[in-house]
Amino acid sequence: MSSLHIIERLPEIISSGKKKAEEVLNRSKDDSLYNGQIFFPESNQGDSWINQFYQGDNLLVMGKLIKEGYKGKLDLIYIDPPFLTKTKHNGKINIVAQDKEYTFELFAYDDTWEEGLYSYLKMIYPRLYLMRELLSDRGTIYVHLDYRTVHYVRILMDEIFGEENFMNEIIWAYKSGGVSKRYYSRKHDNILVYTKTKDYIFNPQQEKSYNRDFKPYKFKGVKEYQDEIGWYTLVNLKDVWQIDMVGRTSRERVNYASQKPEALMERIILTSTDENSIVADFFAGSGTTGIVAERLNRRWIMSDKGDLSSITIHKRLLENASKPFYSFKENNRARDGGKLLIKGEYIDNKTLKIHLERYVVDIDISIKKKYRQQMEELIDNSSLSLIEFIGIDLDFDGKIPLLRKQYTRDSNKALDSNMAIEGNIKEGQKILVAYKDVFGKGNYDLYQISQGRLILCQEY
Ligand SMILES: C[S@@+](CC[C@H](N)C(=O)[O-])C[C@H]1O[C@@H](n2cnc3c(N)ncnc32)[C@H](O)[C@@H]1O
Repeated sequence: MSSLHIIERLPEIISSGKKKAEEVLNRSKDDSLYNGQIFFPESNQGDSWINQFYQGDNLLVMGKLIKEGYKGKLDLIYIDPPFLTKTKHNGKINIVAQDKEYTFELFAYDDTWEEGLYSYLKMIYPRLYLMRELLSDRGTIYVHLDYRTVHYVRILMDEIFGEENFMNEIIWAYKSGGVSKRYYSRKHDNILVYTKTKDYIFNPQQEKSYNRDFKPYKFKGVKEYQDEIGWYTLVNLKDVWQIDMVGRTSRERVNYASQKPEALMERIILTSTDENSIVADFFAGSGTTGIVAERLNRRWIMSDKGDLSSITIHKRLLENASKPFYSFKENNRARDGGKLLIKGEYIDNKTLKIHLERYVVDIDISIKKKYRQQMEELIDNSSLSLIEFIGIDLDFDGKIPLLRKQYTRDSNKALDSNMAIEGNIKEGQKILVAYKDVFGKGNYDLYQISQGRLILCQEY
Protein backbone atom coordinates (compact mmCIF):
# COMPACT_ATOMS: atom_id res chain seq x y z
CA MET A 1 0.00 0.00 0.00
CA SER A 2 1.49 3.35 -0.99
CA SER A 3 1.88 6.13 1.57
CA LEU A 4 1.30 8.76 -1.11
CA HIS A 5 -1.95 10.73 -1.16
CA ILE A 6 -4.22 9.89 -4.06
CA ILE A 7 -3.59 13.33 -5.62
CA GLU A 8 0.11 12.52 -5.84
CA ARG A 9 -0.75 9.24 -7.55
CA LEU A 10 -2.95 10.78 -10.25
CA PRO A 11 -0.14 11.23 -12.82
CA GLU A 12 0.67 7.54 -12.55
CA ILE A 13 -3.01 6.56 -12.79
CA ILE A 14 -3.33 8.68 -15.93
CA SER A 15 -0.19 7.48 -17.65
CA SER A 16 -0.80 3.79 -16.95
CA GLY A 17 -4.48 4.18 -17.92
CA LYS A 18 -3.51 5.75 -21.24
CA LYS A 19 -1.08 2.94 -21.91
CA LYS A 20 -3.73 0.33 -21.20
CA ALA A 21 -6.27 2.05 -23.46
CA GLU A 22 -3.69 2.36 -26.27
CA GLU A 23 -2.92 -1.35 -25.95
CA VAL A 24 -6.60 -2.12 -26.47
CA LEU A 25 -6.77 0.28 -29.41
CA ASN A 26 -3.74 -1.29 -31.07
CA ARG A 27 -4.64 -4.92 -30.42
CA SER A 28 -5.04 -6.92 -33.59
CA LYS A 29 -8.50 -8.26 -34.30
CA ASP A 30 -9.51 -10.95 -31.84
CA ASP A 31 -12.93 -12.37 -32.43
CA SER A 32 -12.33 -15.59 -30.58
CA LEU A 33 -13.44 -13.96 -27.37
CA TYR A 34 -17.04 -13.65 -28.41
CA ASN A 35 -19.63 -15.82 -29.99
CA GLY A 36 -23.02 -14.53 -30.77
CA GLN A 37 -26.58 -15.59 -31.03
CA ILE A 38 -29.52 -13.51 -32.11
CA PHE A 39 -32.64 -13.38 -30.05
CA PHE A 40 -35.19 -12.91 -32.69
CA PRO A 41 -38.74 -12.61 -31.36
CA GLU A 42 -41.02 -13.46 -34.25
CA SER A 43 -43.52 -10.88 -33.12
CA ASN A 44 -41.05 -8.08 -33.67
CA GLN A 45 -38.85 -8.31 -36.75
CA GLY A 46 -37.21 -4.89 -36.39
CA ASP A 47 -35.04 -3.25 -39.06
CA SER A 48 -31.62 -4.05 -40.46
CA TRP A 49 -29.78 -2.72 -37.40
CA ILE A 50 -29.59 -5.27 -34.61
CA ASN A 51 -29.09 -4.12 -31.02
CA GLN A 52 -26.18 -5.68 -29.16
CA PHE A 53 -25.61 -7.04 -25.68
CA TYR A 54 -22.17 -8.29 -24.64
CA GLN A 55 -21.49 -10.26 -21.52
CA GLY A 56 -17.88 -9.56 -20.73
CA ASP A 57 -15.40 -7.02 -19.46
CA ASN A 58 -16.23 -3.70 -21.07
CA LEU A 59 -12.58 -2.98 -21.83
CA LEU A 60 -12.58 -5.90 -24.28
CA VAL A 61 -16.04 -5.04 -25.52
CA MET A 62 -14.99 -1.49 -26.37
CA GLY A 63 -11.84 -2.80 -28.05
CA LYS A 64 -13.98 -5.06 -30.20
CA LEU A 65 -16.39 -2.24 -31.09
CA ILE A 66 -13.51 0.03 -32.08
CA LYS A 67 -12.07 -2.69 -34.31
CA GLU A 68 -15.47 -3.13 -35.90
CA GLY A 69 -15.72 0.52 -36.91
CA TYR A 70 -17.75 2.06 -34.09
CA LYS A 71 -15.16 4.74 -33.42
CA GLY A 72 -16.99 8.10 -33.40
CA LYS A 73 -20.38 6.41 -33.89
CA LEU A 74 -22.11 6.63 -30.50
CA ASP A 75 -24.27 9.69 -29.80
CA LEU A 76 -24.81 8.88 -26.15
CA ILE A 77 -22.88 6.91 -23.57
CA TYR A 78 -24.44 6.58 -20.13
CA ILE A 79 -22.53 4.67 -17.48
CA ASP A 80 -23.40 3.78 -13.92
CA PRO A 81 -20.26 2.01 -12.74
CA PRO A 82 -19.73 0.66 -9.22
CA PHE A 83 -19.53 3.52 -6.71
CA LEU A 84 -16.68 2.27 -4.48
CA THR A 85 -19.17 1.14 -1.84
CA LYS A 86 -16.65 -1.48 -0.65
CA THR A 87 -19.31 -4.21 -0.66
CA LYS A 88 -20.49 -7.08 -2.80
CA HIS A 89 -23.95 -6.48 -4.21
CA ASN A 90 -26.65 -9.09 -4.64
CA GLY A 91 -29.86 -9.53 -6.51
CA LYS A 92 -32.87 -11.67 -5.67
CA ILE A 93 -34.77 -14.35 -7.54
CA ASN A 94 -38.16 -15.84 -6.73
CA ILE A 95 -39.09 -19.32 -7.79
CA VAL A 96 -42.47 -20.94 -7.28
CA ALA A 97 -42.48 -24.71 -7.52
CA GLN A 98 -45.23 -27.07 -6.47
CA ASP A 99 -47.08 -24.24 -4.72
CA LYS A 100 -44.09 -23.33 -2.58
CA GLU A 101 -42.30 -20.01 -2.95
CA TYR A 102 -38.51 -19.81 -2.72
CA THR A 103 -36.42 -16.63 -2.60
CA PHE A 104 -32.68 -16.75 -3.18
CA GLU A 105 -30.04 -14.08 -3.11
CA LEU A 106 -27.57 -14.27 -5.95
CA PHE A 107 -24.31 -12.43 -6.43
CA ALA A 108 -24.68 -9.43 -8.74
CA TYR A 109 -21.35 -7.56 -8.69
CA ASP A 110 -18.29 -6.85 -6.64
CA ASP A 111 -17.58 -3.29 -5.55
CA THR A 112 -14.58 -4.00 -3.32
CA TRP A 113 -11.17 -2.67 -4.34
CA GLU A 114 -7.85 -3.93 -3.09
CA GLU A 115 -6.26 -0.48 -2.94
CA GLY A 116 -9.47 1.51 -2.55
CA LEU A 117 -9.80 4.70 -4.58
CA TYR A 118 -6.46 4.12 -6.30
CA SER A 119 -7.57 0.77 -7.79
CA TYR A 120 -10.96 2.23 -8.65
CA LEU A 121 -9.48 5.14 -10.60
CA LYS A 122 -7.06 2.78 -12.34
CA MET A 123 -10.04 0.70 -13.48
CA ILE A 124 -12.10 3.63 -14.71
CA TYR A 125 -9.47 5.74 -16.53
CA PRO A 126 -8.77 3.50 -19.57
CA ARG A 127 -12.48 2.81 -19.92
CA LEU A 128 -13.38 6.50 -20.02
CA TYR A 129 -10.57 7.04 -22.51
CA LEU A 130 -12.01 4.39 -24.86
CA MET A 131 -15.50 5.85 -24.44
CA ARG A 132 -14.22 9.15 -25.78
CA GLU A 133 -12.95 7.28 -28.86
CA LEU A 134 -16.38 5.77 -29.40
CA LEU A 135 -18.36 8.97 -28.90
CA SER A 136 -19.51 10.80 -32.03
CA ASP A 137 -18.72 14.47 -32.61
CA ARG A 138 -22.32 15.20 -31.61
CA GLY A 139 -22.06 12.87 -28.65
CA THR A 140 -22.50 13.26 -24.89
CA ILE A 141 -21.35 11.08 -22.02
CA TYR A 142 -23.11 10.83 -18.65
CA VAL A 143 -21.09 9.31 -15.80
CA HIS A 144 -23.29 8.40 -12.84
CA LEU A 145 -21.47 8.43 -9.48
CA ASP A 146 -21.93 9.57 -5.90
CA TYR A 147 -20.00 11.48 -3.23
CA ARG A 148 -17.41 8.71 -2.92
CA THR A 149 -15.62 9.20 -6.24
CA VAL A 150 -17.22 12.06 -8.15
CA HIS A 151 -14.51 14.63 -7.40
CA TYR A 152 -11.67 12.45 -8.56
CA VAL A 153 -13.47 11.12 -11.62
CA ARG A 154 -14.22 14.73 -12.57
CA ILE A 155 -10.50 15.41 -12.66
CA LEU A 156 -9.99 12.40 -14.94
CA MET A 157 -12.87 13.51 -17.15
CA ASP A 158 -11.37 17.00 -17.46
CA GLU A 159 -8.11 15.43 -18.57
CA ILE A 160 -9.73 13.07 -21.09
CA PHE A 161 -12.58 15.17 -22.49
CA GLY A 162 -11.19 18.67 -21.83
CA GLU A 163 -12.53 21.08 -19.18
CA GLU A 164 -14.16 23.09 -21.94
CA ASN A 165 -16.39 20.13 -22.77
CA PHE A 166 -17.84 19.85 -19.29
CA MET A 167 -21.58 20.46 -19.59
CA ASN A 168 -23.18 19.85 -16.20
CA GLU A 169 -23.09 18.03 -12.94
CA ILE A 170 -26.64 16.76 -12.50
CA ILE A 171 -27.82 16.12 -8.99
CA TRP A 172 -30.32 13.30 -8.87
CA ALA A 173 -32.17 13.66 -5.55
CA TYR A 174 -34.43 10.92 -4.19
CA LYS A 175 -36.20 9.67 -1.11
CA SER A 176 -35.06 6.36 0.33
CA GLY A 177 -35.07 4.51 3.62
CA GLY A 178 -32.31 5.06 6.19
CA VAL A 179 -31.32 8.25 7.99
CA SER A 180 -28.30 9.29 9.97
CA LYS A 181 -28.02 11.00 13.35
CA ARG A 182 -24.35 11.80 12.77
CA TYR A 183 -24.50 13.54 9.39
CA TYR A 184 -27.03 14.84 6.87
CA SER A 185 -28.75 11.91 5.22
CA ARG A 186 -27.17 11.24 1.85
CA LYS A 187 -29.97 11.30 -0.67
CA HIS A 188 -28.49 12.26 -3.99
CA ASP A 189 -26.23 10.94 -6.76
CA ASN A 190 -24.01 13.00 -9.05
CA ILE A 191 -24.04 12.62 -12.80
CA LEU A 192 -21.14 14.22 -14.70
CA VAL A 193 -22.00 15.29 -18.22
CA TYR A 194 -19.33 15.96 -20.87
CA THR A 195 -19.57 16.34 -24.62
CA LYS A 196 -17.06 15.43 -27.30
CA THR A 197 -17.24 18.79 -29.10
CA LYS A 198 -19.35 21.95 -28.95
CA ASP A 199 -21.63 20.61 -31.69
CA TYR A 200 -23.56 18.25 -29.46
CA ILE A 201 -27.19 17.08 -29.61
CA PHE A 202 -29.31 18.85 -27.02
CA ASN A 203 -33.09 18.67 -27.14
CA PRO A 204 -34.25 20.62 -24.06
CA GLN A 205 -36.83 18.75 -22.00
CA GLN A 206 -39.33 20.45 -19.75
CA GLU A 207 -40.75 19.89 -16.29
CA LYS A 208 -43.54 21.35 -14.21
CA SER A 209 -42.73 24.32 -12.01
CA TYR A 210 -45.53 25.00 -9.54
CA ASN A 211 -46.52 28.61 -8.94
CA ARG A 212 -46.20 30.12 -5.49
CA ASP A 213 -49.23 29.04 -3.41
CA PHE A 214 -50.19 26.93 -6.46
CA LYS A 215 -52.25 29.89 -7.73
CA PRO A 216 -52.25 31.28 -11.28
CA TYR A 217 -49.84 34.19 -11.98
CA LYS A 218 -51.66 35.39 -15.08
CA PHE A 219 -48.47 36.95 -16.49
CA LYS A 220 -48.80 38.11 -20.05
CA GLY A 221 -47.44 35.60 -22.56
CA VAL A 222 -46.83 32.85 -19.98
CA LYS A 223 -48.78 29.66 -20.54
CA GLU A 224 -50.11 28.16 -17.32
CA TYR A 225 -51.56 24.73 -16.59
CA GLN A 226 -53.42 23.18 -13.70
CA ASP A 227 -53.36 19.67 -12.20
CA GLU A 228 -54.58 18.14 -8.93
CA ILE A 229 -51.81 19.96 -7.01
CA GLY A 230 -52.34 23.42 -8.46
CA TRP A 231 -51.20 25.86 -11.16
CA TYR A 232 -47.83 25.46 -12.85
CA THR A 233 -45.77 26.53 -15.84
CA LEU A 234 -43.42 24.38 -17.93
CA VAL A 235 -39.72 25.21 -17.65
CA ASN A 236 -36.59 23.74 -19.17
CA LEU A 237 -34.91 21.16 -16.94
CA LYS A 238 -32.54 22.44 -14.28
CA ASP A 239 -29.54 20.48 -13.08
CA VAL A 240 -31.25 19.16 -9.95
CA TRP A 241 -33.62 16.30 -10.69
CA GLN A 242 -36.12 14.92 -8.24
CA ILE A 243 -37.04 11.44 -9.44
CA ASP A 244 -38.23 8.49 -7.33
CA MET A 245 -35.83 5.61 -6.85
CA VAL A 246 -36.86 2.13 -7.94
CA GLY A 247 -38.41 1.16 -4.61
CA ARG A 248 -39.50 -2.19 -3.23
CA THR A 249 -43.02 -1.79 -4.54
CA SER A 250 -42.11 -0.16 -7.82
CA ARG A 251 -43.70 -1.65 -10.93
CA GLU A 252 -40.43 -1.54 -12.87
CA ARG A 253 -38.34 -3.29 -10.19
CA VAL A 254 -36.46 -6.39 -11.39
CA ASN A 255 -34.59 -7.06 -8.12
CA TYR A 256 -31.15 -6.17 -9.45
CA ALA A 257 -28.95 -4.20 -7.04
CA SER A 258 -28.80 -0.48 -7.85
CA GLN A 259 -31.32 -0.59 -10.70
CA LYS A 260 -31.88 2.96 -11.95
CA PRO A 261 -35.31 4.42 -12.75
CA GLU A 262 -36.56 4.46 -16.31
CA ALA A 263 -37.70 8.09 -15.83
CA LEU A 264 -34.07 9.12 -15.27
CA MET A 265 -32.93 7.40 -18.44
CA GLU A 266 -35.81 8.84 -20.40
CA ARG A 267 -34.69 12.42 -19.67
CA ILE A 268 -31.11 11.67 -20.58
CA ILE A 269 -31.92 9.86 -23.81
CA LEU A 270 -34.51 12.37 -24.99
CA THR A 271 -32.16 15.29 -24.31
CA SER A 272 -28.97 13.92 -25.80
CA THR A 273 -30.03 11.79 -28.77
CA ASP A 274 -32.16 11.90 -31.87
CA GLU A 275 -34.23 9.03 -33.19
CA ASN A 276 -31.90 6.34 -34.55
CA SER A 277 -28.94 7.54 -32.50
CA ILE A 278 -26.85 4.75 -31.00
CA VAL A 279 -27.00 4.75 -27.21
CA ALA A 280 -24.48 2.71 -25.22
CA ASP A 281 -24.18 1.61 -21.61
CA PHE A 282 -21.04 -0.36 -20.77
CA PHE A 283 -22.00 -1.05 -17.12
CA ALA A 284 -25.54 -2.09 -17.95
CA GLY A 285 -26.65 -3.93 -14.76
CA SER A 286 -30.32 -4.72 -15.24
CA GLY A 287 -30.37 -3.08 -18.69
CA THR A 288 -32.46 0.01 -17.95
CA THR A 289 -30.65 2.03 -20.64
CA GLY A 290 -31.42 -0.44 -23.44
CA ILE A 291 -35.02 -0.91 -22.37
CA VAL A 292 -35.69 2.84 -22.44
CA ALA A 293 -33.59 3.48 -25.57
CA GLU A 294 -35.57 0.88 -27.45
CA ARG A 295 -38.91 2.27 -26.28
CA LEU A 296 -37.81 5.68 -27.56
CA ASN A 297 -36.79 4.24 -30.92
CA ARG A 298 -33.07 4.51 -30.42
CA ARG A 299 -30.51 1.82 -31.25
CA TRP A 300 -28.51 0.42 -28.35
CA ILE A 301 -25.34 -1.40 -27.34
CA MET A 302 -24.93 -2.67 -23.77
CA SER A 303 -22.37 -4.70 -21.88
CA ASP A 304 -21.97 -6.12 -18.41
CA LYS A 305 -19.69 -8.80 -17.09
CA GLY A 306 -22.05 -10.39 -14.55
CA ASP A 307 -24.13 -13.55 -14.96
CA LEU A 308 -27.04 -12.12 -13.01
CA SER A 309 -26.93 -8.97 -15.10
CA SER A 310 -26.96 -11.02 -18.29
CA ILE A 311 -29.93 -13.13 -17.26
CA THR A 312 -31.83 -10.08 -15.98
CA ILE A 313 -31.22 -8.19 -19.22
CA HIS A 314 -32.29 -11.09 -21.44
CA LYS A 315 -35.43 -11.62 -19.42
CA ARG A 316 -36.29 -7.93 -19.34
CA LEU A 317 -35.82 -7.58 -23.09
CA LEU A 318 -37.82 -10.67 -23.92
CA GLU A 319 -40.64 -9.67 -21.59
CA ASN A 320 -40.73 -6.26 -23.22
CA ALA A 321 -41.08 -7.90 -26.66
CA SER A 322 -37.92 -6.11 -27.72
CA LYS A 323 -36.59 -5.96 -31.25
CA PRO A 324 -34.09 -8.69 -32.20
CA PHE A 325 -30.79 -8.35 -30.40
CA TYR A 326 -27.39 -9.97 -30.62
CA SER A 327 -26.22 -11.58 -27.44
CA PHE A 328 -22.48 -12.15 -27.21
CA LYS A 329 -20.60 -13.78 -24.41
CA GLU A 330 -16.92 -13.82 -23.65
CA ASN A 331 -15.55 -17.35 -24.12
CA ASN A 332 -18.95 -18.61 -25.06
CA ARG A 333 -17.62 -21.96 -26.14
CA ALA A 334 -17.22 -23.12 -22.55
CA ARG A 335 -20.24 -25.06 -21.32
CA ASP A 336 -20.99 -23.45 -18.03
CA GLY A 337 -24.52 -24.49 -17.16
CA GLY A 338 -26.18 -27.78 -16.33
CA LYS A 339 -27.67 -30.21 -18.80
CA LEU A 340 -31.22 -29.92 -20.05
CA LEU A 341 -32.66 -33.30 -20.91
CA ILE A 342 -35.35 -33.17 -23.55
CA LYS A 343 -37.27 -35.50 -25.84
CA GLY A 344 -38.95 -34.51 -29.04
CA GLU A 345 -40.87 -35.80 -32.00
CA TYR A 346 -42.12 -34.31 -35.23
CA ILE A 347 -45.71 -35.18 -35.93
CA ASP A 348 -48.13 -34.69 -38.81
CA ASN A 349 -45.39 -32.93 -40.80
CA LYS A 350 -46.14 -29.71 -39.03
CA THR A 351 -45.60 -29.83 -35.28
CA LEU A 352 -42.45 -30.41 -33.28
CA LYS A 353 -43.41 -31.59 -29.83
CA ILE A 354 -40.74 -31.05 -27.21
CA HIS A 355 -40.93 -32.46 -23.74
CA LEU A 356 -38.55 -31.07 -21.09
CA GLU A 357 -37.59 -33.92 -18.81
CA ARG A 358 -35.12 -32.63 -16.24
CA TYR A 359 -32.38 -30.11 -15.63
CA VAL A 360 -29.23 -31.70 -14.24
CA VAL A 361 -27.16 -29.07 -12.47
CA ASP A 362 -24.37 -28.71 -9.97
CA ILE A 363 -25.34 -25.78 -7.75
CA ASP A 364 -22.16 -25.63 -5.69
CA ILE A 365 -20.68 -22.96 -7.88
CA SER A 366 -23.56 -20.55 -7.81
CA ILE A 367 -25.31 -20.37 -4.50
CA LYS A 368 -24.49 -19.22 -0.98
CA LYS A 369 -24.24 -21.89 1.71
CA LYS A 370 -27.35 -20.75 3.57
CA TYR A 371 -29.54 -21.49 0.51
CA ARG A 372 -28.05 -24.86 -0.40
CA GLN A 373 -30.59 -27.04 1.38
CA GLN A 374 -33.55 -25.23 -0.16
CA MET A 375 -31.93 -25.34 -3.55
CA GLU A 376 -31.30 -29.07 -3.29
CA GLU A 377 -34.94 -29.58 -2.38
CA LEU A 378 -35.92 -27.59 -5.43
CA ILE A 379 -33.64 -29.59 -7.71
CA ASP A 380 -35.04 -32.88 -6.38
CA ASN A 381 -38.65 -31.84 -6.73
CA SER A 382 -38.72 -29.47 -9.67
CA SER A 383 -35.39 -29.07 -11.46
CA LEU A 384 -37.07 -27.45 -14.48
CA SER A 385 -38.05 -24.45 -12.36
CA LEU A 386 -34.38 -23.44 -12.53
CA ILE A 387 -34.54 -22.87 -16.27
CA GLU A 388 -34.88 -19.16 -16.96
CA PHE A 389 -35.35 -19.38 -20.69
CA ILE A 390 -35.01 -21.55 -23.74
CA GLY A 391 -34.36 -20.32 -27.25
CA ILE A 392 -34.72 -22.53 -30.32
CA ASP A 393 -33.31 -22.23 -33.83
CA LEU A 394 -35.45 -24.58 -35.90
CA ASP A 395 -33.07 -24.61 -38.86
CA PHE A 396 -29.54 -24.01 -37.61
CA ASP A 397 -27.11 -23.31 -40.44
CA GLY A 398 -23.93 -23.71 -38.38
CA LYS A 399 -23.30 -19.97 -38.16
CA ILE A 400 -24.97 -17.61 -35.67
CA PRO A 401 -27.95 -19.24 -33.94
CA LEU A 402 -31.17 -17.39 -34.69
CA LEU A 403 -33.35 -18.02 -31.68
CA ARG A 404 -36.75 -17.27 -33.12
CA LYS A 405 -38.68 -19.42 -30.66
CA GLN A 406 -38.36 -18.38 -27.07
CA TYR A 407 -39.78 -19.43 -23.77
CA THR A 408 -39.15 -17.49 -20.56
CA ARG A 409 -39.94 -18.40 -16.99
CA ASP A 410 -42.62 -16.56 -15.15
CA SER A 411 -41.62 -15.91 -11.50
CA ASN A 412 -44.90 -17.58 -10.48
CA LYS A 413 -44.32 -20.89 -12.23
CA ALA A 414 -41.75 -22.99 -14.09
CA LEU A 415 -41.66 -23.23 -17.85
CA ASP A 416 -44.29 -25.50 -19.30
CA SER A 417 -42.57 -28.84 -19.81
CA ASN A 418 -44.47 -29.56 -23.02
CA MET A 419 -43.96 -27.32 -26.03
CA ALA A 420 -45.59 -27.63 -29.41
CA ILE A 421 -43.77 -25.73 -32.17
CA GLU A 422 -45.36 -25.31 -35.57
CA GLY A 423 -42.83 -25.27 -38.38
CA ASN A 424 -41.65 -26.65 -41.65
CA ILE A 425 -39.15 -29.30 -40.64
CA LYS A 426 -37.41 -31.85 -42.85
CA GLU A 427 -35.71 -35.11 -42.03
CA GLY A 428 -32.07 -34.40 -41.13
CA GLN A 429 -32.72 -30.76 -40.22
CA LYS A 430 -30.51 -29.33 -37.46
CA ILE A 431 -32.25 -27.84 -34.45
CA LEU A 432 -30.33 -25.84 -31.91
CA VAL A 433 -31.62 -25.50 -28.38
CA ALA A 434 -30.04 -22.78 -26.21
CA TYR A 435 -30.89 -22.43 -22.55
CA LYS A 436 -29.93 -20.44 -19.50
CA ASP A 437 -30.67 -21.13 -15.87
CA VAL A 438 -31.58 -18.73 -13.07
CA PHE A 439 -27.86 -18.41 -12.19
CA GLY A 440 -27.17 -16.98 -15.63
CA LYS A 441 -25.32 -20.10 -16.80
CA GLY A 442 -26.26 -21.88 -19.95
CA ASN A 443 -25.45 -24.09 -22.91
CA TYR A 444 -26.40 -24.94 -26.47
CA ASP A 445 -27.29 -28.40 -27.65
CA LEU A 446 -27.58 -29.40 -31.28
CA TYR A 447 -30.24 -31.91 -32.33
CA GLN A 448 -31.22 -33.45 -35.60
CA ILE A 449 -34.53 -34.79 -36.84
CA SER A 450 -34.12 -38.47 -37.55
CA GLN A 451 -37.11 -40.67 -38.37
CA GLY A 452 -39.39 -38.08 -36.89
CA ARG A 453 -37.51 -37.93 -33.61
CA LEU A 454 -35.22 -35.37 -32.04
CA ILE A 455 -31.75 -36.89 -31.64
CA LEU A 456 -28.96 -35.16 -29.73
CA CYS A 457 -25.98 -34.90 -32.04
CA GLN A 458 -23.73 -32.42 -30.30
CA GLU A 459 -23.42 -30.54 -27.05
CA TYR A 460 -22.32 -27.34 -28.64
C1 LIG B 1 -24.42 -0.01 -10.57
S1 LIG B 1 -24.59 -1.37 -11.61
C2 LIG B 1 -25.47 -0.71 -13.00
C3 LIG B 1 -26.95 -0.62 -12.74
C4 LIG B 1 -27.74 -0.18 -13.97
N1 LIG B 1 -27.56 1.22 -14.26
C5 LIG B 1 -29.22 -0.50 -13.84
O1 LIG B 1 -30.08 0.38 -14.03
O2 LIG B 1 -29.54 -1.64 -13.53
C6 LIG B 1 -22.93 -1.54 -12.19
C7 LIG B 1 -22.71 -2.73 -13.12
O3 LIG B 1 -21.42 -2.64 -13.68
C8 LIG B 1 -20.97 -3.97 -13.96
N2 LIG B 1 -19.51 -3.95 -14.16
C9 LIG B 1 -18.57 -3.65 -13.26
N3 LIG B 1 -17.33 -3.69 -13.81
C10 LIG B 1 -17.52 -4.05 -15.12
C11 LIG B 1 -16.63 -4.25 -16.22
N4 LIG B 1 -15.31 -4.11 -16.09
N5 LIG B 1 -17.16 -4.62 -17.40
C12 LIG B 1 -18.50 -4.77 -17.56
N6 LIG B 1 -19.39 -4.58 -16.54
C13 LIG B 1 -18.91 -4.22 -15.33
C14 LIG B 1 -21.46 -4.78 -12.77
O4 LIG B 1 -21.56 -6.16 -13.09
C15 LIG B 1 -22.80 -4.10 -12.47
O5 LIG B 1 -23.87 -4.81 -13.05
